Amino acid sequence: MEEVGRIYGDVGLGQFHLSLTLPVERGDYLAVEDELHGRVLCQLDDLRRKSDLDLVHADQLGRGTETAIHENLLGMVRVIGYRDDQGIVKLPTVPFRPGAKVFRAEETLIAQVLGLGRHSAVGAYVGLLRGHSLRIELDINQLVQRHVSVLAKTGGGKSYLLGVLIEELLRHKVTCIIIDPHGEYGSLRIAAEKNGVHGRFQVETQGFARQVQEYSPDVSLNPSAQPLTFSLRNTEPRDLLIFMGLTSVKTFLAPLKTLLEEVAATNPDFSVKDLVKAAERGEGAVAETLHERLEYLEQTKLLGPKGTPLSELVVKGSATLINLRGVAPDVQEMVVARLASTLFEQRKKNKIPPLFLVIEEAHNFAPQQGQATCSRILKNIASEGRKFGLGLCVVTQRAARIDKSVLSQCNTQLILQVTNPLDLKAIAQSIEGLTDGMTAMIQSLPVGTALVTGGGYHTPLFCEVRPRATKHGGESVRIVEN
Ligand SMILES: Nc1ncnc2c1ncn2[C@@H]1O[C@H](COP(=O)(O)OP(=O)(O)O)[C@@H](O)[C@H]1O
Ligand SMILES: [Mg+2]
Repeated sequence: MEEVGRIYGDVGLGQFHLSLTLPVERGDYLAVEDELHGRVLCQLDDLRRKSDLDLVHADQLGRGTETAIHENLLGMVRVIGYRDDQGIVKLPTVPFRPGAKVFRAEETLIAQVLGLGRHSAVGAYVGLLRGHSLRIELDINQLVQRHVSVLAKTGGGKSYLLGVLIEELLRHKVTCIIIDPHGEYGSLRIAAEKNGVHGRFQVETQGFARQVQEYSPDVSLNPSAQPLTFSLRNTEPRDLLIFMGLTSVKTFLAPLKTLLEEVAATNPDFSVKDLVKAAERGEGAVAETLHERLEYLEQTKLLGPKGTPLSELVVKGSATLINLRGVAPDVQEMVVARLASTLFEQRKKNKIPPLFLVIEEAHNFAPQQGQATCSRILKNIASEGRKFGLGLCVVTQRAARIDKSVLSQCNTQLILQVTNPLDLKAIAQSIEGLTDGMTAMIQSLPVGTALVTGGGYHTPLFCEVRPRATKHGGESVRIVEN
């Protein structure tokens, strides 16, 4: 083992100071020999260079006067622990001695203590431990039972990583429903073009055409999708207003109710078309607006006599994309509210298989401030879904803007680069075991590197995300060609 330095100063049980003789990078794994327990795994959390160069001498140096500088490279090290005979990770109960040697950790110790490198039948392979060739596999049962969040700034690689995760879930035949506001997940059907990176990560390219189906409330904009419709009979008048794009409940709810009663009295199986006809007969500005918005609703074909059957939407072992591209925001919320409630109800009755519900742009669907139509049901699923085998995955570029109760229920976090201070604060507050050093590192993560917490691992891990087996659909639009 290569010695990198010595322990100095006051030594705690969970951390110590290190004087470095060889350069080590923040996040690297180190080892210390413990008298009682053998080698203990540690991680360099922070680094600084201490010197005796004061302002006066620095100034003189700037004017060309030579001056001797004494400097030390100092590190703050976090103790991760050792595995005991029962395989449990433990911290030493007596602090290391000052002056003790600190080594660069060997791959076998890292793998053993972190629990990496074993191939598991229930593992979702998301990438390799940064700087090593150890596979990080997330426990799929934990993912689905205990919820997931994917957090990063725009362009940080959230959709790419989510694609990786869904590929793994599909390989393991886990049923998924994906709320896809930008219509970017259809490319899960198509195999990626193979390149050298696939070899390094040992990933076979593959498309999942047979396991991906797509529905959309707007099939004219999204022709690759089948129509997603809801049953008119099961739609409350208030919800009908949302589908019609009318926000003033005070003005429109009562007249709409009267209209519905009128039509239902003569024909209990009425359609939107029947409502349009009846509204046409009304007089005045309100009636005119109702008529016009009902005509619009009829064109959208969003509400039908029966609605898309759940047995078609939820197919065991497949992913169903709900493509909301081009759909008005309040209608998107309505669609999510209706779908999520139905999925939750049917899961409680065990009428559909256990499933993983993915919400992209989740800050719009469960905002911290204000209300979205679907906020309440998403909060319910976050707090109670696990009991019923309904896993939630929220994806957002604004950790500060998503409902905190939803975020804190996520036990696995996949965090890519985040720079906004408010978002960083929200992340630091919702995740246990995140050190100041890690929070600082999140700000400068390169694209393709994620901090993984939970997922069956007891300490946060930096992960080089594996390449996609399928094509990534979220490429940015090029404004200028080069
Ligand atoms: N792990 C990765 N490996 C290679 N390229 C990546 C990776 N993650 C993201 N990218 C690239 O970065 C860009 C932004 O990623 P994307 O997932 O669409 O960001 P986000 O959804 O966070 O806005 C994409 O063009 C994608 O090709
Ligand atoms: Mg995205």
